[in-house]
Amino acid sequence: MRSAQPERIAMQNWSVRIAVVIVLLLSLRIGSIQADDELTNAEPLVIPTVEATALNLVGTNSCAAGSCHGGARLSEGRSFAAYQIWMRKDPHSTAYSVLSNESSSRMMALLYPKENGPAPHATKEARCLNCHVTTEPSGDLQVPPTSHAVADGVGCESCHGPAKQWLGLHSTIAWRGMSADAKSSLGFVDTTADLAGRAQLCANCHVGSPGRDVNHDLIAAGHPRLNFEFSAFHANLPKHWDAQSPRSTEIQDIEQDSAFEAKAWLTGQLVTAQTSVRLMQHRTKEPQPWPELSEYACFSCHHDLKENSWYQSRGRSTGRFAWGTWNYGMMPALAHDAAANGQFESLKTLMEESFPERAAVRQRAGDLDLVLSKLISEASSRDYSKQGMDQLALQMIDLSRDGDLPAESWDQTAQLYLAIVAISLAREKTAPGDPLNLTIQNELEAIRQKLLFDKNLDSPQEYSGSQIDVILRRLHGIQEALTTADRVNR
Ligand code: HEC
Ligand code: HEC
Ligand code: HEC
Ligand code: HEC
Repeated sequence: MRSAQPERIAMQNWSVRIAVVIVLLLSLRIGSIQADDELTNAEPLVIPTVEATALNLVGTNSCAAGSCHGGARLSEGRSFAAYQIWMRKDPHSTAYSVLSNESSSRMMALLYPKENGPAPHATKEARCLNCHVTTEPSGDLQVPPTSHAVADGVGCESCHGPAKQWLGLHSTIAWRGMSADAKSSLGFVDTTADLAGRAQLCANCHVGSPGRDVNHDLIAAGHPRLNFEFSAFHANLPKHWDAQSPRSTEIQDIEQDSAFEAKAWLTGQLVTAQTSVRLMQHRTKEPQPWPELSEYACFSCHHDLKENSWYQSRGRSTGRFAWGTWNYGMMPALAHDAAANGQFESLKTLMEESFPERAAVRQRAGDLDLVLSKLISEASSRDYSKQGMDQLALQMIDLSRDGDLPAESWDQTAQLYLAIVAISLAREKTAPGDPLNLTIQNELEAIRQKLLFDKNLDSPQEYSGSQIDVILRRLHGIQEALTTADRVNR
């Protein structure tokens, strides 16, 4: 482990971003297409011309014709206007252009020592392009993609699959009759069918994967830390599809399931953990820096050293590094059977040793990977009735027993908060009119207030014992309400 200097190190804007997620999440209105979503009065689009000659990618322009997905009227269906929504509202359409902004240049300058001459431009750097533009899924991620539509940023084919082999058929009537397997053999990615697959798609870039890694070097150079939580990110993605109205019969409407948010949350947690454990196996290989510091709680090293800081007062010695507080924050409650929990704990114990050995970590990470596959396949068949979801929420809150888990870590508290938000959104749809919904929402709002940072701060430096105590009280308020409801229901 590289030794951390015990001075207070200024944190960059990583934590602001999760605050943004939280703010957006609570201002979310599901179900209504708002008037300002109408795209009809918008100025005509100028479609940039770009080269699109790679093997399987055709470029986003190929989807943008008025009769395909470039329609401007939402009344004709959101998927008809998909291109317009993506272009005007979706953060992915600017993913390439941000590589030319000031913070990208600063990042590149810090990543490349001056002695070796001027740093390359981020738009020429494979380690940035792999996440910030559309790449061939099976392509060599070490080679910068230069020959296709890089300027589109994260375009349609990043999520729906390289279209060269299916685009022609897709616009014919024959497409409807084709089986899912036949479509997928042409490279089409069916985002409608499988929640775990959908979460995996996002996690490849938002958690990372071999060849796509926001490690501590990038974070220290100024890249935002990746704080991915699937249900919140999914909710924040501007919908270019008809999530609320019935679609054709061959489409499984997973979003119209009243338990959607709860399922998305649980599936997302497990897929995030699995993606992270796979990335970790890659990180253990030479010549990557090891141990990889971004695996650990940032505040293990970057803590406020004033006496009795919240961190120390909650029993963490400053010499120990807490591992996996974001990507595995809820694992102790999710790995419900003893075997799964054992695998998780054994990896955690190893990672929290002073110098975890690469090969041993790779081995245990591989074991946990297998366990996670099983948990993911079981996630969709859990009990998602109101009672089932209440049990799930209680199981999560149980992590805070004895002032344990969330008390010592902003990461885990924020994760716990997002968990209960997702479950309560699903609860509201499953049991509309249940007065308990409002009680939970009020407690959640109080918790959210305590998780936000002061205006002038960009990290929870002032996250203190008194804040934690309020949060714990509110959590236990929810716990009590749910437990009482459970007793009444029996
Ligand atoms: C593992 C995928 C991944 C890699 C690798 C990556 N990024 Fe990012 N980047 C993201 C994601 C995801 C976000 C959005 C962060 C969020 O909100 O969670 C982002 C955000 C950014 C932002 C902030 C955008 C804004 O709105 O201000 C900049 C700038 C940026 N990246 C530049 C870079 C540069 C430069 C590199 C290469 C040195 C790079 N990125 C490598 C995934 C990646
Ligand atoms: C960040 C990933 C992502 C990007 C980029 C993206 N989509 Fe989607 N798309 C999704 C997800 C997730 C869904 C919702 C699941 C579903 O219904 O397929 C979806 C749904 C759709 C649907 C509805 C599918 C159906 O059968 O009803 C269409 C059409 C569509 N997208 C077209 C596009 C087009 C065109 C673009 C580019 C302009 C694009 N998408 C870019 C992720 C993405
Ligand atoms: C090919 C990589 C890639 C994939 C796949 C991808 N994203 Fe992204 N995503 C990015 C990058 C890069 C950014 C930052 C773009 C920017 O700031 O301009 C981003 C930004 C976002 C943001 C805005 C975050 C913020 O802090 O404002 C949301 C929300 C988001 N993505 C959701 C999703 C979801 C949901 C999926 C899966 C359906 C997904 N993304 C799939 C790369 C990806
Ligand atoms: C094991 C200790 C350790 C952990 C854990 C750790 N860091 Fe660091 N961090 C350092 C050290 C040492 C430096 C200075 C040297 C360097 O740049 O690598 C640093 C530098 C930084 C910098 C640049 C700060 C500056 O002022 O130059 C940022 C930003 C940063 N870390 C953010 C994070 C975030 C976010 C996390 C959690 C994902 C994290 N760190 C986890 C030890 C750590």
